[in-house]
Amino acid sequence: MDIMQRPRRLRKTQIIRDMVRETSLSVKELIYPMFIVEGENIKKEISSLKDCYHYSVDKIEDEINELKSLGICAVILFGIPSYKDECGSSAYDENGIVQRAVKKIKEIDENFYVITDVCMCQYTSHGHCGILKEGYVQNDETLEYIAKIALSHAKAGADMVAPSDMMDARVGKIRKCLDENNYENVAILSYTAKYASSYYGPFRQAASSAPSSGDRKSYQMDYHNSKEALREAYLDIKEGADMIMVKPALAYLDIIRMFKEKCDMPLVAYNVSGEYSMLKNAVDSGIMKEDVIYETMIAIKRAGADLIITYFAKYLAELLKK
Ligand code: PBG
Ligand code: ZN
Repeated sequence: MDIMQRPRRLRKTQIIRDMVRETSLSVKELIYPMFIVEGENIKKEISSLKDCYHYSVDKIEDEINELKSLGICAVILFGIPSYKDECGSSAYDENGIVQRAVKKIKEIDENFYVITDVCMCQYTSHGHCGILKEGYVQNDETLEYIAKIALSHAKAGADMVAPSDMMDARVGKIRKCLDENNYENVAILSYTAKYASSYYGPFRQAASSAPSSGDRKSYQMDYHNSKEALREAYLDIKEGADMIMVKPALAYLDIIRMFKEKCDMPLVAYNVSGEYSMLKNAVDSGIMKEDVIYETMIAIKRAGADLIITYFAKYLAELLKK
C-alpha cells in the first residue's frame, strides 16, 4: 500500500501515546466548591449534588485535611446563611457564615488557598443577586453591597474574591474598595462570562438561592451571544481582574477557547452543578463508564482552561494519584 502518512504510528503503544499527548490535568489545577451552613456538627450530603456536603464551620477541619491529603490546595466557598433580608445583610456581617469559615480554614492552614464567592442571592429574601426595586435589580446600588461583601471576606482572610453577581463595573468597584482598605494583595477572580443557565439548578437547591420571582436574565448573559462575552472580558481586565472565568463550562467550550485566544489572562472554567449531576447520574446508573468524567475534564482543558472549579475535584485527585 502506498500510504505516506499513517497517524496510527503515533498511537501504537502507551509510551508513544504519552509522548505525543497535548493536554494534561494536574491536581493543582482543581478548585473544590464547598457549601458552609450555620449550626454545629453538620456534614450532610446535598440531595441535589450526590457526594457533596453541607458543612458546619466546626466540620471544616476534617474536610480541609482530606483535601490536602489528596493534593487539593484551593477551595471556593459558598455560604448558606440562616437569616435573609432585602439587602442581604448577613453577606457582609463580619461574623457571617463565610467570614467564619474563612477564618477557620486560615487557622487550620494559613497557606490553604481560599476563594470566596461574592454574591447576594443566598442572602436576599427575594433570591436575586442584588438590590431589587420594582422588579429590577439595581446596578449601582448593588455595587456598594458587593464591595462591602468582598471587603468583609478580605478582612476574614480570603486570598481571592470571586464576584458572581454580574453587575456592571463590579470588578473595578471591588478593586478600588480593597485597595483603599490596604487589601491590595487580595486577588479578584471575575465570573466574567456567566450565562443565565439552567445548568445551575442543583446548586440553587443546594444553596436555597433560587429567585422567588422572575429570573436572572437582566444581569446574567444571554447564551445566544459570544461577542458580548469578549466585551465583558475586556471590561474585567481593564477594571483589574486577576483571573477571568467562563461559566458553565461544557456547553460553553467555544467561549473558553475564545478567551484563551483573545485574552492573555489566567482562565478558569466552572464545571457547574448541572454538568456534574448529568455525568454523576449517568455514571452511577451504569449508562456510561466512569472514564467519561476524566474525558470531560480534559475537554475543558483542551478548550483552553487553566483551572477548573469542579465538584469532581476529589474524585479526580484520587484518579490522578493512580
Ligand atoms: C450565585 C452562584 C450560582 C452559581 C455560583 N454562584 C447560581 C446562580 O447564579 O444562580 C452556580 C454554580 C453551580 O451551578 O454549580 N450567584
Ligand atoms: Zn447570585
